[in-house]
Amino acid sequence: MPGGAERPRPRGYHGRAVKRYHVTTFGCQMNAHDSERIKGMLEELGLGEAPDQAEADVLVFNTCTIREKPDQRFAAHLAQARALKERNEGTVIAVGGCYAEAQRERLFELYPFVDVAFGPGTIPHLGDWLGAGGDGVARAQFGIAEERSFAGTLPMHRERRFQGWVQVSMGCNSKCAYCIVPRVRGREVSRRPGDIVAEVTRLAGEGVREITLLGQNVNSWGRDLAPDLRTDFGELLRATDAVDGIARIRFTSPHPKDFRDPVIAALADCDAVCEHVHLPLQSGATRILKAMRRTYDRDRYLRLVDKLRAAVPDLALGTDIIVGFPGETEDDFAETLAVVEEVRYDSAYTFVFSPRAGTEAATMPDPVPEDVKRDRIERLIELVQRIAAERNADRIGRVEQVLVEGASRTDASLLRGRTRRNTTVNFAGSVRPGDLVDVRIEAATSTTLKGTEAALVAA
Ligand code: 5AD
Ligand code: SF4
Repeated sequence: MPGGAERPRPRGYHGRAVKRYHVTTFGCQMNAHDSERIKGMLEELGLGEAPDQAEADVLVFNTCTIREKPDQRFAAHLAQARALKERNEGTVIAVGGCYAEAQRERLFELYPFVDVAFGPGTIPHLGDWLGAGGDGVARAQFGIAEERSFAGTLPMHRERRFQGWVQVSMGCNSKCAYCIVPRVRGREVSRRPGDIVAEVTRLAGEGVREITLLGQNVNSWGRDLAPDLRTDFGELLRATDAVDGIARIRFTSPHPKDFRDPVIAALADCDAVCEHVHLPLQSGATRILKAMRRTYDRDRYLRLVDKLRAAVPDLALGTDIIVGFPGETEDDFAETLAVVEEVRYDSAYTFVFSPRAGTEAATMPDPVPEDVKRDRIERLIELVQRIAAERNADRIGRVEQVLVEGASRTDASLLRGRTRRNTTVNFAGSVRPGDLVDVRIEAATSTTLKGTEAALVAA
């Protein structure tokens, strides 16, 4: 910029200058994917992306409400946004996603300075509201019934060049006692197979090498389709595997109850489907699983793990575990530890139970005291990390295929990528992002591997 020239001040949305947006995302991959659609939609409206919240005219928060923690983080962000708006009157504050949907009755009461709100199924409302300059369009539109639409039909702003998310369904028909998702994302609706395969084909044409199929309960996909389209998730894996140019397929999150044999057979048969399954356990105690309404028990889960491992050699397993569900005794918790020991997960997300208003578990008797929950999660994390470190150490000396993502986050002289088993690898090499390369593994921690490009080792 020429010396002394003042940077033009952003004039805020109602000032009608060229506008810039900033999207802050909380929560799961589905939300991250929705945010890419929100960005694509705003760019189609002529807005550019601002590097941070302070420089944006339109501040969007795509929220999560799975536990209390994201609610609290969002509240802190919103306080900052309010301060920005006080300085620059025309700033628009938009709140979307799961928290917005869960708080639809109270949102504007709690946060009167929020201009516009929408739920996970009503993203286009933000575009309608902004397109009309906020005039004559309702401040909020929510909806988990007919008004919902797939974010997958909106334009997309992809954050990663070689990896893409593809939404296969929205909503969830399960009734897990702890979970708010069915309330905020509604009943399950599957996207048509032709639309999914067309999107995968388009992504492959744009150079994407790895896709992740996304659904709240991804492997129950297809059951609600019209009779002439009815199929199952295994068939969908086979159809995406057949798309030229896609080297890797991942999917998240499957429900153990829906992991039927045809899906397992597809995992074994499809070359592009990675040797990694995220299989939420939630609890290792049958009694607690029943109270959670997970509809499988400890033995059925373990049998499924055996089947998966028999079908896919060298399979990596990840999981989600909740400690401190109402009524969980020390014996129940010991069963969770025992399952973790038995399965030997490669990775696990661990959560302290957080009561969510409107879920069945929020009003269950026998809450577990905070200090007991803390003690249990610490013991669980210790075990999970010990096993993950051992599992990764076992990989030292092997050669693994890595999809290169960019420079290492911790050491700029190294590259970073991910194995088919979904472990991050930092490695010395001379390849470029998007390349698939063999890397010899030389060191390991509980979460990452370190190595050298195999061609360099051989040279
Ligand atoms: N409290 C704690 N953890 C929860 N999860 C979902 N709801 C709750 C809750 N109320 C966890 C589950 C789920 C993951 C995404 O979040 O383990 O699989
Ligand atoms: Fe959070 Fe669940 Fe919504 Fe994802 S679906 S953003 S985890 S509440």
